[in-house]
Amino acid sequence: MNTSSDQVKIMQRFYRWQAGIYDATRWAFLFGRQRLLHLLPHDEHFHFVEIGCGTGRNLRHLAGLRPTWQFTGIDVSPDMLRQARKATAAYSDRVNLLQIPYGTGISPLREPVDVILFSYSLTMFNPGWEAAIEQAWHDLRPGGIVAAVDFHDTPYTWFRNWMTANHVRMDRHLLPFFEKRFQPEVRQVHATFGLLWRYFLFVGKK
Ligand SMILES: C[S@@+](CC[C@H](N)C(=O)[O-])C[C@H]1O[C@@H](n2cnc3c(N)ncnc32)[C@H](O)[C@@H]1O
Repeated sequence: MNTSSDQVKIMQRFYRWQAGIYDATRWAFLFGRQRLLHLLPHDEHFHFVEIGCGTGRNLRHLAGLRPTWQFTGIDVSPDMLRQARKATAAYSDRVNLLQIPYGTGISPLREPVDVILFSYSLTMFNPGWEAAIEQAWHDLRPGGIVAAVDFHDTPYTWFRNWMTANHVRMDRHLLPFFEKRFQPEVRQVHATFGLLWRYFLFVGKK
């Protein structure tokens, strides 16, 4: 078994039982998702892709808001995708869901796309976050938009270790890489619960 198939197996195992309680629990700490969706530019005919779409919360919200867009959601967890299928059932003619690991060098996207979102997914791509960002760069059309919201850092070792135990890397490693690879349009870092952790929002252009 190579390391990327290890990562996929860990994710599939982790979300096997988490998928059913995900939406009921994560609203309390996955901050900034709604704000980021409203920072995205919009055109009539965008093809929007979410990598690590989970239960489909972001896809459902945007599909309701943008009736002319096409959507693709990519995830490795069949249990999360089952939830996403239910969440986006009303928009099934415009939402395509794929079970595949992203960033392996073979893109599941046949044509260049307009927007790629990473919402609290990349801190769990360990290893593989750099390859996934590189893949997004290749999958976007020239002038296409990458958007990301995720954990940034924490001053507390105990919290960092607890997040590591839950497969989340909190090392301030994502934002500098996005800034290097894309032309930044939005860059924000926010503290939460006093300063228990910080999260970031990024929107960049290819
Ligand atoms: C914390 S959830 C985020 C879900 C959703 N984006 C949200 O904002 O609620 C992370 C998701 O990334 C998915 N994931 C992890 N590694 C992946 C990979 N290599 N390729 C695609 N999806 C992956 C997981 O299965 C999980 O559904």
